[in-house]
Amino acid sequence: MSTLPSSRSGNSRSGQAGRETRKVTVPEILAKKVRGERLTCLTAYDYPTARIVDSAGVDMILVGDSLAMVVLGYENTLPVTMEEMLHHTRAARRGTERALLIADMPFGSYQRDAEDALANAIRFVKEAGAEAVKIEGGQKRLEVILKLVENDIPVMGHIGLTPQSIHALGGFKMQGKSLAAAEQLLRDARAVEAGGAFSVVLESVPAEVAELITRELKIPTIGIGAGPGCDGQVLVWHDLVGLSFGVQPRFARRYADLRLVLEESVRHFVEDVTTGVFPGEAETAHLPAEVAEKFLSRRDA
Ligand code: KIV
Repeated sequence: MSTLPSSRSGNSRSGQAGRETRKVTVPEILAKKVRGERLTCLTAYDYPTARIVDSAGVDMILVGDSLAMVVLGYENTLPVTMEEMLHHTRAARRGTERALLIADMPFGSYQRDAEDALANAIRFVKEAGAEAVKIEGGQKRLEVILKLVENDIPVMGHIGLTPQSIHALGGFKMQGKSLAAAEQLLRDARAVEAGGAFSVVLESVPAEVAELITRELKIPTIGIGAGPGCDGQVLVWHDLVGLSFGVQPRFARRYADLRLVLEESVRHFVEDVTTGVFPGEAETAHLPAEVAEKFLSRRDA
């Protein structure tokens, strides 16, 4: 039996008694909308976070390209690469057993043409264990969505505020506020559904627009800053637990302030080491007495 402390004694799953353990699949996500059950989705970019989110019962885990901002410290999502997204998807894969694992396709990985998009999407499935991919854009992505779906790769669409288009949109702004823009969003949503996507993220759009799109579509809408009328909700993990550093988006709700908890832990560690309190006897291993006696006396000689 291992005598290592629990944080280093391996990756076995425990403490999940009583939790829903059935694997979440794409058909199950669609069936939940039919049954009128709300869907949940959170981002995760690494093994421990994926394990926590997975065992807490979320339906979908998204390895979002928000990774660029909340983990890698970039100003926007544009710089993150295929290799970085694959690396983090693999880590999240190892921590996910039950939730549907979705990888976000980074800027530049699906814009060139449908063949290029397919090649990159295949990498997420084959090399990183993703069960679906997400791509931004509505009508203009129809061909790409059709191509991936035709090749058995489930697609989650993403319309409204699409962060990979910030230069074209002029910043992180709410979309669909005018009648013409709201109607375009509806056309985009219909195109995503017509392409065969199994769900669509609606980001930063007025609640009325999201509600109408949700009524019109057979596939579930997953809102972020889109009001309560969507079929499900998604949040960025770092916003949920108080680990993001920029301005908190108005639509995000903070369920914990981990930054304070973590800073406090580090302050305690620094204090304990500098005052000689850590490591204490409980954290220290010793030689057997007879070995210690011989070893220390030999060294003294
Ligand atoms: O990258 C991301 O985290 C996302 C979600 C906000 C939907 O696209």
